[in-house]
Amino acid sequence: MIEISKDTPIVILTGAGISQESGLATFRGEGGLWKGIRVEEVASPVAFENQPDVVHSFYNKRKEKLLAPSVQPNDAHFAIKRLQDEWPGGVTLVTQNVDDLHERGGSTDIIHMHGELLKGRCTNCADVFPWEGDMDVHSECPKCHSTGTVRVHVVWFGEMPLMMPEIEDALLKCGLFISIGTSGNVYPAAGFVQVVIQNPASQTVELNLEPSLNAHQFTHGIYGPATKIVPEFVDNLLSR
Ligand code: OAD
Repeated sequence: MIEISKDTPIVILTGAGISQESGLATFRGEGGLWKGIRVEEVASPVAFENQPDVVHSFYNKRKEKLLAPSVQPNDAHFAIKRLQDEWPGGVTLVTQNVDDLHERGGSTDIIHMHGELLKGRCTNCADVFPWEGDMDVHSECPKCHSTGTVRVHVVWFGEMPLMMPEIEDALLKCGLFISIGTSGNVYPAAGFVQVVIQNPASQTVELNLEPSLNAHQFTHGIYGPATKIVPEFVDNLLSR
C-alpha cells in the first residue's frame, strides 16, 4: 500500500465518475453525455458563433439536471473534504467537473480547470459572474451590459483549460497524486500523472470504477464505485 508521511503534499484530480452516484451522467460509455452528440456542435467557440441558441439550450438542460433536488454531494465528495481538513501536508483539489458538488460537499479552494456550469462569462468584457438560471441570446452581461455576449463559464473544445500554471506547480511539488473517476481521454488532465512521475519519489494512485486508459502509469490502482473506495482510501490515509 501507499507509504507516505503526513507532511506530504497531495494533489487530487477528479472527473465525472465522482459525481455519477450523485445522479449526474458521465461523458463516455453507456448513457454518457457525449453519446449521440457531435461535441463540436454544442461545446465549441464555433458552435457558439453559429448557433448560440443550441449551445445555450444544451447547457441550460445540464444546469437543470444539476439543480434537481435529487442531485446532492455523495460520500466521495465528503471524504475529500475531510482529507482537505485533516491532512497536515495540504491537499490541492483540481476538478474537471463543471458541477458544484465539491463546493456543496464543503471543499474550498477548488480548481475548476474546465470551468463552472453555474457561472457565466462575457465575451465582450471577460467578466465572470454567478448565473444559475437559463441563458439565451438576449442575456445581458451584468458588468458591461452588452447582450448576445454572455456564455456559460465552461471550457469548450479548442479552448485552454483554466489555471494551468497553478496546477503544474502543485503537481511538481506533490508527493502523492490521486486521480478519481476520470477516463484518461482528455488532455492536459490525462497527462498529469506523467508530470508527477518525473519525481521518482512521488506516488500515484487511480481510484476508478475500472482501469482507465492511463492505468499502467499509476503506481497503484483501486477499483470500485467512488462512494465506497474513496472514503475507505481516505480513512486509510488518515489512520496511519
Ligand atoms: P468520462 O466520462 O470520460 O469518464 C468517467 C470515468 O469515471 C470512467 O473511467 C468511468 O469508469 C468512471 N466511473 C463511472 N462511474 C463511476 C463511479 N460510480 N465511481 C468511480 N468511477 C466511476 O469523464 P471524464 O474523464 O471526467 O471536458 O471526462 C473528462 C472531460 O471530458 C470532461 O471534463 C469533459 C469531457 O469532454 C469538457 O467538457 C471540457
